[in-house]
Amino acid sequence: MTRRTLVVVSAGLGQPSSTRLLADQLAAAARDELAGRGVDVDLRAMELRDHAHDVVNHLLTGFPPAALRQTLDAIAAADGLIAVTPVFNASYSGLFKSFFDVVDRDALAGKPVLIAATGGTARHSLALEHAVRPMFTYLRAVVLPTAVFAAPEDWAGDDGDSALRARIRRAAGELAEQVDRRPPATGPADPFALTTDFADLLAGRDPS
Ligand SMILES: Cc1cc2nc3c(=O)[nH]c(=O)nc-3n(C[C@H](O)[C@H](O)[C@H](O)COP(=O)(O)O)c2cc1C
Repeated sequence: MTRRTLVVVSAGLGQPSSTRLLADQLAAAARDELAGRGVDVDLRAMELRDHAHDVVNHLLTGFPPAALRQTLDAIAAADGLIAVTPVFNASYSGLFKSFFDVVDRDALAGKPVLIAATGGTARHSLALEHAVRPMFTYLRAVVLPTAVFAAPEDWAGDDGDSALRARIRRAAGELAEQVDRRPPATGPADPFALTTDFADLLAGRDPS
């Protein structure tokens, strides 16, 4: 078994949150799809409401508080990302957008990203296509073809075999394929990493 890491970001504000519920179902489906390919998954779930104040502080100061730094590093080092937002005013929520405004510039480049949203009406499902997808494309992520939207009626009478479940499975399959075909993510290069031999440094030798 190989091992990969998926980060699951949920921007729901409710408690309980339908956005978190959708994120959890997507994560479980992705784990199952990857297990079917012989890949073990470390899942890291994050609720952006826990980082809301830190995100604003980062925007104002340019520096992330420690807990937010850990979250940003985890995203940069992940093999794939599941990003789920509630639809607010026909677009992503402000918290969702602000969070991805402070994600490091190259952190998502080439990374498979499954996008999903919840909303009060299915009429706003295309917010995924006119708002969420372009944002991740701008960040040079590999956004999966299937985006998952859940309206209130999708949850009603969910017996595990609904149209929503089928879409979740399809999107999770696409994510698993993209994660499996890539080498494990290494994360961003550490700008302070020691790249020369320590003995050379002590001896004052020029390693170049
Ligand atoms: C300020 C605000 C604006 C909203 N705007 C929309 C909207 O434009 N379209 C829509 O379908 N739902 C809209 N909703 C409903 C939420 O998207 C929906 O309730 C969502 O599933 C809540 O997610 P949560 O349970 O994770 O908090 C809005 C909700 C709030 C609070």
